[in-house]
Amino acid sequence: PAAHTFTIAAVPADGVGTEVVTAGRAVLDALAAASGGAFAFDWTEFPWGCGYYERTGRMMDDDGLDALKGFDAIYFGAVGWPSVPDHISLWGLRLRICQNFDQWANVRPVHFHPGITSPLRKADDTPLDWVVVRENSEGEYAGLGGRNLSGRGPGNEVALQTALFTEKGCERIARFAFELARGRERKKVSSVTKSNAQQYGMVLWDETLSRVARDYPDVETESVLVDAMSAKFVLRPEDLSVVVASNLHADILSDLGSALAGSLGLAASANLNPERRFPSMFEPVHGSAPDIAGRGLANPIGAIGSAALMLDHFGLSAEAGRVRAAIEATTAAGVLTPDVGGKAKTGDVVASIIDQLSS
Ligand code: NAI
Ligand code: MG
Repeated sequence: PAAHTFTIAAVPADGVGTEVVTAGRAVLDALAAASGGAFAFDWTEFPWGCGYYERTGRMMDDDGLDALKGFDAIYFGAVGWPSVPDHISLWGLRLRICQNFDQWANVRPVHFHPGITSPLRKADDTPLDWVVVRENSEGEYAGLGGRNLSGRGPGNEVALQTALFTEKGCERIARFAFELARGRERKKVSSVTKSNAQQYGMVLWDETLSRVARDYPDVETESVLVDAMSAKFVLRPEDLSVVVASNLHADILSDLGSALAGSLGLAASANLNPERRFPSMFEPVHGSAPDIAGRGLANPIGAIGSAALMLDHFGLSAEAGRVRAAIEATTAAGVLTPDVGGKAKTGDVVASIIDQLSS
């Protein structure tokens, strides 16, 4: 038996989620097999998602959170299918896990790979690499509000969708961003809000961030409005290192970042419960991609990069580095799925990455 066995709950869910989770598992199992018994992964797969909803009326079991609680980590695919309204599938599974396990920090690296053409010409001769840190427990996705508040009936409905900002929530994500920046070559935090227009919650965010910044005199700080930041992603990306933003803003900015790097299929993410009271969850940024699902076309790099973030979380940093190097070697060799201009299938990319691991 291995010296250390990590237990992982796999939740592939829907569409390409099942394809990319299979890909990530294959890479991690290859790594464990090559570790000479130093570590192993013990997988348990859960069948939840939209298919499960169609059969049972539930996105996950009622006691599903209890079933997940004891695992070292959760490896998630993507949830959503045209047969189920998106707000039901997302809230019923992914957001339910994130919120109940207090996975309040969502780390989303924007990484540019060799051999993948970026729409950003600068990427050819400038090293670009930044991380989006998303506040993952409150903000615009707090689920606060209601419908039919006026009681005036059809044609006159009123709905409120309220953003929640707490000083504690702002403070912990700010500290998280500064700690992350300290460990990077470029020690800089860019904070994103829209505090000129949203004068309550986002001003609290700005003020809290400035206060926390005083504890990190070695880290450069800037505060940028979200519209200006979206322009900056395109025009001055070399100026970015850690970008910290609210739930909604960071969700949008991280899709923009991965598109600049070449495809949504490349982007990895970690939903962390930094106190480790609950399991953290690792998943690609993309959704279930119904337009390409089931045809072996899914780019597995986002999911495999997420598995590398899981290795970091387990304290296996050297192994995480090996997986990232194997991804780089694969893209540099031109083994690419169609979304990044190649002809390779999901399985070809996985085979190449596993091959690079052992070379
Ligand atoms: P999506 O991310 O599934 O797809 C957007 C575009 O990117 C599509 O053209 C798709 O083909 C492409 N794409 C995505 N992943 C890819 C991959 N691995 N390789 C190659 N191309 C890839 O977003 P969309 O279409 O808005 O949503 C589809 C469903 O996914 C919806 O039900 C939505 O609610 C759900 N969703 C779930 C998320 C999650 O579970 N974390 C996140 C985003 C969306
Ligand atoms: Mg998103």
